[in-house]
Amino acid sequence: MKEKIITKKILKWYDLNKRLLPWRKKVSLEKKQYYTLISEFMLQQTQVTTVIPFFNRFIKNLPSINSLAKANEKKLIKLWQGLGYYSRVRNLKKTAQAIIENFEGKLPNNLKDLLTLPGVGNYTANAILAIAFNKPYIPLDGNIERVLKRYLYLKKKKEIQKDNLLQKKIIFGASSRSSDYAQALMELGALICKPSNPRCDECPIKINCKSFINKDFSLTKRIKKNKEKYFILKVYKKNQKYLLIKNTKFNFLKNLSIFPMKELSNPKNFDENLNIKMSNMNMNIKIQYSKDNQKFSSYYWLDKKKLDSYMLPTFTKKVVQYLEKD
Ligand code: ADE
Repeated sequence: MKEKIITKKILKWYDLNKRLLPWRKKVSLEKKQYYTLISEFMLQQTQVTTVIPFFNRFIKNLPSINSLAKANEKKLIKLWQGLGYYSRVRNLKKTAQAIIENFEGKLPNNLKDLLTLPGVGNYTANAILAIAFNKPYIPLDGNIERVLKRYLYLKKKKEIQKDNLLQKKIIFGASSRSSDYAQALMELGALICKPSNPRCDECPIKINCKSFINKDFSLTKRIKKNKEKYFILKVYKKNQKYLLIKNTKFNFLKNLSIFPMKELSNPKNFDENLNIKMSNMNMNIKIQYSKDNQKFSSYYWLDKKKLDSYMLPTFTKKVVQYLEKD
């Protein structure tokens, strides 16, 4: 495959500068595929540095697609605790089961089949094809998108629409080292072409970068504001224990243990006690102590002395920490 000059420069830079991330280790093809699946799910909404210890612990406890497909919910949630967005780990298990049932236990190596797997969207499918199977795909993640926008100086609303960016990414060319190339582009975005203060002096493609030429590195991307949300959280306390329920009501922390809560849509004079940022929400929480717990059909008492041994989401732990502080 004849490579473009830009491709060569980026790969050369990557060979000299890449981080040694655990899912980049040289392993058997089967392991490579499993590691890519796990790391890409984790990296969907979480930063590389946060993911590293979670990834290591996950593959140590569940080293294969088979073990993941059989893992019980409690174990999975515990391994995911701290990463948030728990639907990812539930989809991961469903994906492992689907791979066994429909694809003879092997991660599919084509777009159509990958897209049938729960939790695998276009981005993740492209990333798997490039990274695990060395196919000439370029997944357009936030990092690569930024490199592309800066390199071509795309700022207008029309220019930065996803469809347009997907077409424009062709300028990166392709390499027979597709696995390295996809990761090289991500790495360039993460280490050099950073959102603020890009390190252009170290960039291997700066001489043709339109943003560098124009000395303008701003991106027009709007910063997504966290949604302000308001909740009343009920605390029932008995013999040093707190009442928790299984959350079937809210879309976040689905099926996990939470304090009973009610969302207020239009609160007036809301005196919050506690503020917790989670996913894309800024949760303003007012705590009310209550006595009557008759209305719950299903609940359990959390012994705060055994906090660490319980399978609790970080959100609930933060609430307990707050209550214990008083
Ligand atoms: N972001 C998404 N996938 C990644 C990967 N494989 N390496 C680094 N950052 C990533």
